[in-house]
Amino acid sequence: MKLGVDIGGTEIKFGVVDDAFATVEKFAIPTPRKYGESIVEAIAEVCLETAKKYPVEGIGIGSPGIIDGREGVILRASNLPFLNTPVTEPLRARTGTRVVLGNDASCAMLGELYAGYGREYDDMLMITLGTGVGGGIIIDKKPYFGKNGSAGEFGHMVVEFDGLPCGCGRKGCFEKYASVSALIGLTVRAVEENPKSLLAEMSGAKIDGRTAFNAMKEGCPVAQQVVDEYISHLAVGVENLIMLFQPEIIVFGGAISNEGDWLLNPLRSKIVTDALLVCSRLKNDAGYIGAAAQLLDEA
Ligand code: BGC
Repeated sequence: MKLGVDIGGTEIKFGVVDDAFATVEKFAIPTPRKYGESIVEAIAEVCLETAKKYPVEGIGIGSPGIIDGREGVILRASNLPFLNTPVTEPLRARTGTRVVLGNDASCAMLGELYAGYGREYDDMLMITLGTGVGGGIIIDKKPYFGKNGSAGEFGHMVVEFDGLPCGCGRKGCFEKYASVSALIGLTVRAVEENPKSLLAEMSGAKIDGRTAFNAMKEGCPVAQQVVDEYISHLAVGVENLIMLFQPEIIVFGGAISNEGDWLLNPLRSKIVTDALLVCSRLKNDAGYIGAAAQLLDEA
C-alpha cells in the first residue's frame, strides 16, 4: 500500500491507497503554519502512526510551490512558510520508507490521469482552485513539467497589468483573482457594503469559500454578484489556457470545484471557445491519490 500526502494551506490530507488507487483510509490534520520544518515534522508523526496500521511501501508528498523533485526539497511557496525546505530526506530518515515529492497540483493531475478522467482523454489540463491556484498539463497522455519541473503554475500567470501584489513577487497573478482567498476577499467586501443582505446574515462568525455560493443558492442577489464577479475573473484565465493548449478537457479540483455546476454552468457561459469543463471525479482526494501515484515508475 502507498501513503499519499497532500499539503494544503489549511489542512494536510493523508490517504492510504491500494495498488488500484482505491482509498483504504483517509484523514487530515490542520497545517502548522509556523515553519516549513514543523510541517515536515507533523507529517513524519502521522506517517509513523500510519505505518503501524498498514504495510506502507512508500510515501508520496504533494506540496504547493516550486519543488526540486530530484533533491526532495521545496524551494519556495507563496502561501506556506517553505524556503529551501528538505522534505524527502528527513522523512525517509524518520520512517525508513521511500519518499517522493512533487507539486500539489501536478499530483492532483496525476491522480486524475491514473484514476480519473485521464483514462479517457489524451490532452488534459487540471486547474485547482484552493488557497492558491495550481495547474497541471497532460499532453498525449503524458505529464508535461517543463525544463525545471515547474510547468503548469497557472496561478502565477499575470492576468492584470499592475494588479494585486502576489506572494511570489509578481503583480496581477491569476490566483489573486481566482483562488478561495480571492473569493473570500470579494465576500468580505460585499458583506461590509451590504450589512442587511442575506449574505451578511449567513456569514456568521466566519466567512469561507462556500459562504457566497450558499447565500446565492438561497436567492441572495448580493451573493449572486459576488459569485458572478469571481467567475468572470476565473473565465479570463481559463480562456487563456484554452487558447494556449487546446485541451480536450479541463478538470477542476480544489475546494471551489465542490460547487459543481453552480460553478461550471456560469463559467461555460463566459467562455468564448468551446471546451469540455468538468469537476474532478476524485474530488478532494485527487491530491493524495496523485501524490501516491508519483511512486509509480512511469510517473
Ligand atoms: C502555488 C502552486 C500550487 C498552488 C495550489 C500556488 O500558489 O504557486 O505551486 O500548486 O498554489 O496550491
